[in-house]
Amino acid sequence: MTIIETRDLAKYYTFGSGLRVEALRGVNLKIEEGEFVSFMGPSGSGKSTLLNIIGCLDKPSSGRVFIEGNEVDYRNSSSLVSLHRQTIGFVFQAFNLISTMNAMENICYPMHFSRISTSRQKQRATELLNLVGLGDRLNHLPSELSGGEQQRVAIARALANSPRLILADEPTGNLDSETGKKITDLMRKINQEQGVSFVVTTHDSEMARTADRVVKLKDGKIISEAF
Ligand SMILES: Nc1ncnc2c1ncn2[C@@H]1O[C@H](COP(=O)(O)OP(=O)(O)O)[C@@H](O)[C@H]1O
Ligand SMILES: [Mg+2]
Repeated sequence: MTIIETRDLAKYYTFGSGLRVEALRGVNLKIEEGEFVSFMGPSGSGKSTLLNIIGCLDKPSSGRVFIEGNEVDYRNSSSLVSLHRQTIGFVFQAFNLISTMNAMENICYPMHFSRISTSRQKQRATELLNLVGLGDRLNHLPSELSGGEQQRVAIARALANSPRLILADEPTGNLDSETGKKITDLMRKINQEQGVSFVVTTHDSEMARTADRVVKLKDGKIISEAF
């Protein structure tokens, strides 16, 4: 099944001076269920813009986005919110954990908005921390964890509501190459064992080697899609 489809996606920014920046120029892309796709391309090529539009964190200037066959309706904000919670999880370059919450609480946080009981939330958070190899770090604050460990917590948090797709913007960008490789391997393992699709932007050739497909962007356009 196709999980994401974009048709003729364009995004531009206009400034008072008349300057116009075209971040995306006619992007047609399909992501299939279970795929691990990486977006590569020079800085400014539109990777983050495309990822944010796929994740409905941003809206296109023109073109259409379909999630599991349903067209995203940008006028209906409540359906976007439920999409975020149920279909898509996010991982960021700077981890973006809540600094006053420990690992367990960070993972429980997105579950507060669902109807899961507190005890079931804690049980799931514990399972997820075990899955990412941090079963012994439940009570640690982000400041008490290394960068790689923080990113593991962020991956567990992204999985909290059992999304079918995880979007990750340069998830290894703040990590040394060895730690980055472990994070890449973890994401691939979750992809293979749990069937969660991944779309990951990266400069990292290790990540690209791991992916099922590398989508290359340049100047807001897809220039190749190697399988
Ligand atoms: N909020 C914004 N306002 C104006 N221009 C932007 C904004 N966000 C991104 N851009 C421009 O869009 C282009 C693509 O940016 P981006 O998607 O961040 O690229 P990448 O992630 O590949 O580095 C760049 O030229 C960038 O400067
Ligand atoms: Mg970017």
